Amino acid sequence: MPYYSGDLIEEVISQNDVVEVISEYVTLKKSGRNYMGLCPFHREKSPSFCVSMDKQIFKCFGCSEGGNVISFIMKTENLDFWDAVEMLAERANIDTSRYEVNSYYNKMDSTKKDLRETMFKINRDVALFYHDNLVELLKEESNPVKEYIISRKLDIKTINKFGIGYSTGKEPLYDYLKNKGYTHDEIMSADIIIPSKSGRVYDRFFDRIMFPIFDIRDRVVAFGGRAFGPKVQDKTIPKYYNSQENDIYHKGKTLYLMNYAKREKVDNIIIVEGYMDAVALQKFGFTNAVASLGTALTENQARLIKKYTDNVVIGYDADEAGQAAILRGLDILASHGLNVKVLKLDRPDAKDPDEYLNKYGPERLKKCIDNAISLVEFKVSILEKDFNPEILESKVRFLTGVANILAKIDNNIERDLYIDRISKKYGMSPGPILKEVEKGLKNKKEDSIFIDMNALNKKMQLITNVRKRQEQYIVALMLSKKKKIQEEIINNISSYDIEDENVRKLYDFILSLRDKYDINKIDILSKIQDEDMIKEITDIMYIDISGYEERLLQDVLKNKKKEKLFTRRDEIIKRLSEDISKDEGDILKVELNQIVIELSKLK
Ligand code: UTP
Ligand code: MN
Repeated sequence: MPYYSGDLIEEVISQNDVVEVISEYVTLKKSGRNYMGLCPFHREKSPSFCVSMDKQIFKCFGCSEGGNVISFIMKTENLDFWDAVEMLAERANIDTSRYEVNSYYNKMDSTKKDLRETMFKINRDVALFYHDNLVELLKEESNPVKEYIISRKLDIKTINKFGIGYSTGKEPLYDYLKNKGYTHDEIMSADIIIPSKSGRVYDRFFDRIMFPIFDIRDRVVAFGGRAFGPKVQDKTIPKYYNSQENDIYHKGKTLYLMNYAKREKVDNIIIVEGYMDAVALQKFGFTNAVASLGTALTENQARLIKKYTDNVVIGYDADEAGQAAILRGLDILASHGLNVKVLKLDRPDAKDPDEYLNKYGPERLKKCIDNAISLVEFKVSILEKDFNPEILESKVRFLTGVANILAKIDNNIERDLYIDRISKKYGMSPGPILKEVEKGLKNKKEDSIFIDMNALNKKMQLITNVRKRQEQYIVALMLSKKKKIQEEIINNISSYDIEDENVRKLYDFILSLRDKYDINKIDILSKIQDEDMIKEITDIMYIDISGYEERLLQDVLKNKKKEKLFTRRDEIIKRLSEDISKDEGDILKVELNQIVIELSKLK
């Protein structure tokens, strides 16, 4: 992909109306000055997804996703920023070649993208280096690496297919990259090679089997390294060591081997925990296997999967699948409309799919996959663990637990089927279960198509605490296009005064834009790529302050002043309680007196 100047972003935004683009994905209804629909980013029955024609942004008041037309495409199509820009350019028939960067000056704008491209290349070269290392070692008669590879039943075909390698952790990797033409800074920015205290460099993955992690477009973006030998057994080093997150690697957006799984036409995706599980499954022909790499599943991963299939099977370690974080992950998948099933391995002596495959073979595992139970059944089976039909109290607890789970099912027929099945299985009459479920259902909100923006805003206002709201006003005033007000803010409020991290980042960012642009003439949102900042600014853009600017400004300034006085007052009181000289005490008391007077004036 070529490099583009920042002007392309503005062109793309102005040529792709946000309402039109989103309408291609979501059914929108006009409601006052806005358009409302069901949020595509979380499951809901009454619309809280709002698109503003005037502001050219969208915001979900349910899940807080928000942004402009580019962020929308990034999320729904699961694309990087520039890929989304290209897609929208194509949609609007914009000739992108006109924005390609070749002059030195324009290049300044695209350095970040340059660095990303270089990091992809370095990661690929490093993966090849590790892979060649391993292939060489496997040619030898015997060595510890080869023995470990054999013990894990990794054959050469699999090793080649997934680019598995070995890192010696010695200096040659640095020289190898240097010889490939990368600069010292480029090499270090990839975060694989680290300077040691003695001034030399070393590989952060020392003596490990290396699994390159690919993104959806087959680019190497990170690594996982498996240590082996006695040090792992006595736990003096971590079993796996993984790349840190950076510009090209976002853990929560990645699924290991998804780039392979998506190539096949599959009925479902099997999600397992570890590198070795995914690799073993793929080796035995389960080409729909991916790994979440030991972290709870995210919204981004759910969306990624949903692009390829509606069905997932979860194959986590038996004793871990019931953990709260994992259950939350499964609910996230379900809330994206995925049909979630949970794999139960039928042998206690094989704790994960890799072990199971090596002990009992693929046919038997296939049977387990076919028999995977639904998420509801799985949740019930967790409750069942401390269920004792002999004890009344236990029965009641079980019944309420089950009712809670069933009340979350939207489909009536499905819900009744479960009630029937569960009552039979646990020897209870369906009546009481049904009653409990109905209680739960009543508590769920009634469907409504009518959306009252004022009520929504009020709700938002209650959720966001007062202090944060005050800080949001600071940014809202900066966006107000009123020069005098903006100057008052800048002269009186520094970013240190702002406690909320996202609001502070935004304020800093707007100040930094002022050095280059007239902020009242540019689309500030289009200059932001950080997801948290985008969410924050769209929140703020929905706060309507027009007509109230002057009053809000006075409010904000007054509150800042109050806050400073309060802080100083508390400092003084604390100091006075300490062992200080009489002179200092007298001076402080005078100051305290003045503060109290000033505060009473500010009330
Ligand atoms: P497991 O401990 O279940 O390992 O961790 P595994 O996948 O079965 O690995 P083998 O079979 O022992 O080689 C599951 C996943 O959790 C992450 C890794 O992604 C691993 O694959 N993990 C685990 C770490 O990141 N660091 C660790 O120290 C351990
Ligand atoms: Mn394992």
